[in-house]
Amino acid sequence: MTNSKSGNKTSVIRVEHFNAAHRLENPNWDDQKNREVFGKCNNPNYHGHNYDLEVKVTGFVDPQTGFVMDIKELSDIINSQVLDRFDHRNLNLDVVEFEHLNPTAENIAYVIYCLLRERISEAVELKIKLYETPRNFVEYPA
Ligand code: NI
Repeated sequence: MTNSKSGNKTSVIRVEHFNAAHRLENPNWDDQKNREVFGKCNNPNYHGHNYDLEVKVTGFVDPQTGFVMDIKELSDIINSQVLDRFDHRNLNLDVVEFEHLNPTAENIAYVIYCLLRERISEAVELKIKLYETPRNFVEYPA
């Protein structure tokens, strides 16, 4: 019996967590417009979120290992590429990718995708789900 030639792909999902501060701002707008659009997330002195991250890798099961991807390896890649850079950091000030990119959940998910894609085989699909609060989350790619 094999799971690799059936034509159905399998997803493996690793859940991680990080805390980070951010401030949402469009530097092309004045203070009033920034406050109107971003509300509390425009607070000049930053504010924190407890982010929950789900990384989904989808592909065919390797008949040799029985894995789509070694989930320990996936965890190590998320740690080195994302958590070591983002956890307990100020995203605006400490993470170079957000120097000129507003650190919205949408943009954070995109940056995470790009950082992980560098290290994960093109043979598998990658999807990022990022929770900024328990009720607000984004997915990339959609
Ligand atoms: Ni916020």
